Amino acid sequence: MIDTNVNRRHGNNVKWAVTKDDDQLLPMTVADMDIATPQFIREAIQRVLDKKVLGYTMPSTGFYDAIIHWQKQHHDVSLKRDQLIILPSIAVGLSFVIRHLTQVDDGIIVMSPYYPPYKQLVVDNHRQFVEFPLVQREGQYVIDFKRLDQVMANSQVKAIIVCNPHNPGGCVWTTTELQRIQDLASEHDVLVLADEIHDDVTFSDNLPVSMMSDMMGEGVSSQTVLLKSATKAFNLAGLKCAFLAVKDPQLLATLKQAAAAEAIEEVNTLGLVATRTAYEKGAEWLKEVNAYLEENRNLAYEYLREEVPMIRPMYPEGTYLMWLDFMAYGLTDNELDEKLRNLGHICLNPGIEYGKTGSGFMRLNFAVDRSVLKDALHRLKHFDQSVRKK
Ligand SMILES: Cc1ncc(COP(=O)(O)O)c(C=O)c1O
Repeated sequence: MIDTNVNRRHGNNVKWAVTKDDDQLLPMTVADMDIATPQFIREAIQRVLDKKVLGYTMPSTGFYDAIIHWQKQHHDVSLKRDQLIILPSIAVGLSFVIRHLTQVDDGIIVMSPYYPPYKQLVVDNHRQFVEFPLVQREGQYVIDFKRLDQVMANSQVKAIIVCNPHNPGGCVWTTTELQRIQDLASEHDVLVLADEIHDDVTFSDNLPVSMMSDMMGEGVSSQTVLLKSATKAFNLAGLKCAFLAVKDPQLLATLKQAAAAEAIEEVNTLGLVATRTAYEKGAEWLKEVNAYLEENRNLAYEYLREEVPMIRPMYPEGTYLMWLDFMAYGLTDNELDEKLRNLGHICLNPGIEYGKTGSGFMRLNFAVDRSVLKDALHRLKHFDQSVRKK
């Protein structure tokens, strides 16, 4: 059922655009998959196309029901239709929430390293970007809660973005960690913006818990906005459909009014169909894809540890992203990027773009055909041998 036979070299694909200048370069970058969007979704889209008209369409009851059912069944999140706001994307949704639930000059905490657009969404909306470094312990990131408490205690700070599973670190925050974030947020009156776009990509050794899970208790609802879409797990990023969920009546009223004012819910018709179909029919397909990705993860992690020990991978508990520590080579970020391209013929996402804590790191996307992953790993070994020879 999984189809990895995709050629994305042509067209304006973001990931593969680098090969226009150098067709020997293998990009392992942008967080979408070189795995075909499932056939049952493409067929559902085709049925819409077969009706020959792509005019205005309303989100169906089935669309909302599919989200509600999926979130309850897979993430233990109980939602009602009127607690949902449809969005074109998570990025648009974050900007929207920041603009309507915080004020100019408010501080927004972002754990570093971070998904790079977070910074722009905060700064370009004239909020203060409060970079909060994650701490490495035994090769994994942990949250320094004492420090978080101090940072939240600053009266300027009004919100925190919590990315779970974490891009780029691949960490799945534990229930205890999520609860502690919520406790501090409650104590300091800080809004929690939970970006859970990666939470359907799950591996057998780590299941992410949602910030809005019923298990987190009633209290979290009053200060949490959940942002989510089917795009990462089902490879639908180009279709522009996401949603946010908010339970607190006051926050909900503010966001509903703002959504009407901005017509933010007017999303792509095909995105509505794809999202509904993913959640209605996608569970089995996703299980298979996740098992494939888990094998890819294990293969890449073990290969690097055994064959290229100077590259130290962080173990991805979730996501199809692997965060690689290249510090042992003693290269600057520019040198590292250049040598990976010129000696390894591989293109990774430079860690420095993910914040101060990202210096010396690179991010690798392993959602590709296994043969491509093996090729990428061999290129990393070749890079390693070439750099050490010099
Ligand atoms: C953590 C995280 N949030 C948001 C996004 C972007 O989502 P969207 O395309 O819906 O804006 C990404 C994409 O890579 C991501 O990794």
